[in-house]
Amino acid sequence: MAKLFTPIRFRDTEIKNRIFVSPMCQYSAEEGIANHWHLVHLGGLAVGGAGLIIVEATAVAPEGRITPFCLGLWSDAHTQAFKPIVDFIKQQGAIPAIQIAHAGRKASCDAPWRDGKFLPPEQGGWQTFAPSAIPVTPEHGTPHALSREEIQQVAAQFHAAAKRALDAGFEVLELHCAHGYLLHEFLSPLSNRREDEYGGSLENRCRLALDIARDLRTLWPQDKPVFVRISATDWVEGGWDIDQSIQFAKWLKEAGIDLIDCSSGGLILDAKIPAGPGYQTEFAQRIRHETGIATGAVGLITSAVQAEHILVSGQADVVMLARKLLSDPHWPLHAAKELRTDVTWPAQYVRAKHIE
Ligand SMILES: Cc1cc2nc3c(=O)[nH]c(=O)nc-3n(C[C@H](O)[C@H](O)[C@H](O)COP(=O)(O)O)c2cc1C
Repeated sequence: MAKLFTPIRFRDTEIKNRIFVSPMCQYSAEEGIANHWHLVHLGGLAVGGAGLIIVEATAVAPEGRITPFCLGLWSDAHTQAFKPIVDFIKQQGAIPAIQIAHAGRKASCDAPWRDGKFLPPEQGGWQTFAPSAIPVTPEHGTPHALSREEIQQVAAQFHAAAKRALDAGFEVLELHCAHGYLLHEFLSPLSNRREDEYGGSLENRCRLALDIARDLRTLWPQDKPVFVRISATDWVEGGWDIDQSIQFAKWLKEAGIDLIDCSSGGLILDAKIPAGPGYQTEFAQRIRHETGIATGAVGLITSAVQAEHILVSGQADVVMLARKLLSDPHWPLHAAKELRTDVTWPAQYVRAKHIE
């Protein structure tokens, strides 16, 4: 049996295979509330055989959305809308996970298919927030530097959103500390110029993300896992890098975090990223080997053999796929065939199993 299809267990959560759906914004919600699009999109991925499905970056507060069309979790109506989606994912034998996020200085933008431009308040956008008043580009609004009281409010928003995620029935929580959004902005010296206990030293820059991770670990049931997504490097000299990520991962491990989802970039938009097949896998490998925590590899993983190799060679514990699963939501079923592993197809689709 291919390793890709061996189950993996985090705490008491058993996942049927090691193909995880990487979180992907759909920019299709109104007022942050999930709808039929999310049910069909996420439900289709569950039908397609992925072991765990991470719902897109879901904002803990309205101003934490990347766009006015992003999902949120700041009211009971948001919780209710997720329930049928969570139930459907579970009925297909997949594990429902959700990434909770705050977009920080990269909030208040239009949908990417309309160029993703910054939206000022008069065009339906809002004031953005960050550790320091440094805009991500001159075209973005200057963020308001959060006061210490406001930082506590943000931590409380993460807490409340996690509670709602649990009420909705999610099994796994992922904290978004990557891609240049708020928590990553605190981590990186390029976006964090604070002089209080949240800025300066590595320990200070990690303080907010670690405080939130510890709080979520306490709140989330002990038998269920919590993951953290990081950008392992800013790909910019003088920025956040893999060595800082390794120390951060050690602290996250001590906090009881179960897996580090190893992405990169997003803080500095014109950073030169050597994107190519498996270009971020080395980060998953180093963090796994140097800290002993489980890792997920993500980034241009597109073939069954490549995914299997990442696992068999010990570079990561699981693979996360994004774009490949958009182009082929049933990729896990095809990958199993390619790796000569028999997996159960949904009963409704069994007649298609042997046609090719
Ligand atoms: C449409 C789309 C939306 C995305 N939204 C998110 C998101 O909500 N949260 C996140 O951490 N990454 C997001 N990403 C990044 C992916 O999760 C993934 O890390 C990246 O696309 C690289 O994987 P891939 O080469 O398999 O696509 C998004 C990517 C795409 C293509």
